[in-house]
Amino acid sequence: MNDSEKRLVVVSNRLPVSISGDEKIGYTVEPGAGGLITALKPIIKRTKGAWLGWPGCNIDVPFDKLLQEYSNKASFSLLPVGLTEEDIAMYYRGFSNRSIWPLFHDLIGQFSFVLEEYERYKVVNRKFAETIAKNITENDNVWIHDYQLIFVGSELRDLQIKTKLNFFLHIPFPSVDLLRRLPRNQTIIKRFLAYDHIGFQTAVDKRNFVSCVKWLIPEARIINKRTKSYITYNDQKTVIGYYPISIDFNEFNDVSKSKEASDTAWYLKENINAKFLVLGLDRLDYTKGIPQRFLAFEKLLEKHEDVRGEISLLQVVIPSRLNVPDYQNLRDELEQLLGRINGRFSTSGWVPIHYQFNTLDRVRLVGHYKAADIALVTPLRDGMNLVSKEYCASSIDNKGVLMLSEFAGAADQLGKGAILCNPFDIDRTAEQIYEAFRMSDEEKERRMRLMRSEVKKNNVDRWVRQFFEVNH
Ligand code: G6P
Repeated sequence: MNDSEKRLVVVSNRLPVSISGDEKIGYTVEPGAGGLITALKPIIKRTKGAWLGWPGCNIDVPFDKLLQEYSNKASFSLLPVGLTEEDIAMYYRGFSNRSIWPLFHDLIGQFSFVLEEYERYKVVNRKFAETIAKNITENDNVWIHDYQLIFVGSELRDLQIKTKLNFFLHIPFPSVDLLRRLPRNQTIIKRFLAYDHIGFQTAVDKRNFVSCVKWLIPEARIINKRTKSYITYNDQKTVIGYYPISIDFNEFNDVSKSKEASDTAWYLKENINAKFLVLGLDRLDYTKGIPQRFLAFEKLLEKHEDVRGEISLLQVVIPSRLNVPDYQNLRDELEQLLGRINGRFSTSGWVPIHYQFNTLDRVRLVGHYKAADIALVTPLRDGMNLVSKEYCASSIDNKGVLMLSEFAGAADQLGKGAILCNPFDIDRTAEQIYEAFRMSDEEKERRMRLMRSEVKKNNVDRWVRQFFEVNH
């Protein structure tokens, strides 16, 4: 049977829903808005598959019943893995987000390792594997996602599961020099090799992984072909490829044509009262380079008096991982910087940096993209970065300028149209914002057309198809 006809079982740390409410007022289950769900839902429905993950709520919430009702209505099966408060503290906030996340993003300063958290990561990955094992057959196609669940494959093999196991890493994969800092690195790499197929975002991530296997597991046999590598270790053969994730181009393009999105854009510009609007929009995360972006903007105002009163930066920060101390610290740092820069440059009627700390629904999100004359997408490191692709898909009038960090995976696809920058180089980034500010309409249009056609062609459906086209 061809993989695309098999029953698809998707596994991720979070289920693509959010459960809110309490016992008194009752609970509501709402669909998640991510690109992954949009792309995978049709295949899951067609193959009568399922999505398995943490429901994102406390263990006391009756999520089994809630999700059963939701699944019946949505004709799409959601299977929960309940996690205790201690699991969340050690597996999610601990090993996933204080060890793997910073290290894999090359941010060694934020990295720490606590053995108990690593042990709990194993236990929780085992819990996921047990729930999967109860819900699959040998003919299913299992697709496990991201750094929170690396060990699920090897745990499934320990449970004697022979089903084909696929894994996709959404975040970067570090070089061997960095990975060596992570205690148990050899075990971690061996556990990766329990999968039949592993996908990375970029050629560099794939290359880093293959060289880690080469250096840390010398007994593994590696055959490199054009875009794939084939690794055999302990009688298990693993295909390694790279597949840059994307978005649903048509969805953003269509929302952008709506009156609601245009109205949002208009109100936003009116309220901010800037002739030229620069947008930053990120999940609260130290990988996103937001303080560096504020400093570059400050440098621009310092060096180029002609932009004062003309240009404003609107930074939207989407709350995330607030229980992890480094995330709280980042929030404080941003608010301090903001106060300082605005204190230094504001005049009556003009504020250089506007700041929102909230989530945006799809229409408001697209409205923000439409209002932006420049989008500053300047992460220090990013697996892909979908904001950059969403911005292009929403820029239907071809007038926006994308400034993109060369350390985002998306730079491989958008590099020909974007202004590529190094977010660590504050002076140069400031000059590049100035360049974008002065760019002619023809040049903006030429660049945006290139990027839009790239995102349109390589949309998220294509990503799924390419992942499953692989021959094992
Ligand atoms: C990144 C990760 C995802 C994660 C998302 C939100 O994009 O690659 O796996 O789901 O951030 O983070 P959170 O910790 O809130 O799930």
